[in-house]
Amino acid sequence: MSGPNTSYDPVEVAALDPAAVEAAAAAALAAAQAASTLDELKAARGAHQGDKSPLALANREIRALPPSAKAEAGKRVGQARGRVAQAFAARQAELEAERDERILVDEAVDVTLPAGRRPLGRRHPIELMSQRIADLFIGMGWEIAEGPEIEAEWFNFDALNFDIDHPARQMQDTFYVDPPEDGLVLRTHTSPVQARTLLERGVPVYVAAIGRVFRTDELDATHMPAFHQVEGLAVDEGITMAHLKGTLDRLAAELFGAGITTRLRPSYFPFTEPSAEMDLRCFVCRGEDPECRTCKGMGWIEWGGCGMVNRNVLTACGVDPDRYTGFAFGMGVDRALMFRTGVSDMRDMIEGDVRFDAQFGMEI
Ligand code: PHE
Repeated sequence: MSGPNTSYDPVEVAALDPAAVEAAAAAALAAAQAASTLDELKAARGAHQGDKSPLALANREIRALPPSAKAEAGKRVGQARGRVAQAFAARQAELEAERDERILVDEAVDVTLPAGRRPLGRRHPIELMSQRIADLFIGMGWEIAEGPEIEAEWFNFDALNFDIDHPARQMQDTFYVDPPEDGLVLRTHTSPVQARTLLERGVPVYVAAIGRVFRTDELDATHMPAFHQVEGLAVDEGITMAHLKGTLDRLAAELFGAGITTRLRPSYFPFTEPSAEMDLRCFVCRGEDPECRTCKGMGWIEWGGCGMVNRNVLTACGVDPDRYTGFAFGMGVDRALMFRTGVSDMRDMIEGDVRFDAQFGMEI
């Protein structure tokens, strides 16, 4: 180790010159004050407090001074550095406070502003009704079946024992799909699912099919060219008309309440024998107003057709009609919705106005 350098002249060391130290400190203070952002302050701090800053250099020079000069130079440089450090800290605090203030303003949230409300989607009331019907049948141990909406004429008519010249086959009742030679129609009822089910699943069978059907009806308050039916088919040994009536009464009670009055009225369908229509007691006049517009004074509202599956249908579908009997029904779902909720114009059901759907609430 070498001894103190006695020939060292502090005046010669420019960095330690009092005027130079003062100037460096003044420059640092000015720079701290001039910084208008935290980034600028950081840069200024690097220049005036960093390792290569004039004051840091002066500080390093002190080590080289003779002991006699060290104390005085150390005090001078130390004080200057202290002032500078304080000034930077104070400016830092000021700028941080300004920034926080700005963030509070910029990011302020007005909790009193109305929220952007996004309305919940709804399932269509027909869909809700269909689900409810499906649930009832599943609860009774039935299965749900499906068939295509574009159906083979054979399933829609022939398999169901419609004569070749049956009026329902006419163009004015049925939508034929082009080209007509292809023998495709928009199904006019859900009954073709009966034939499909018998062929695919065999017997015994208990199925319900709910879906859209099409007829060339003009759209008005009580008719739609596309509407919905729930088809039921039960084929087993020993099935009677009593089972049919019991099942339909159960469905009616589920949809319209236990007090509903129903009746079976003789009718005709090519695919059932005997056949009947099921009517519901008019929900407006209860059969007491001969002028009632809802039931046209009849006291009853037609809900759908039903009957015992015709032997010819069983035979066409490979089921032995001497061993098995069955019942079938096809009820209007849209009509059920009207009846249940008092919707008086069917067009409301298809216009897609969410305000209509919303009234039926949401069921999961
Ligand atoms: N498919 C018939 C209709 O649309 C209703 C029906 C179904 C009748 C099943 C008897 C048995 O009108």
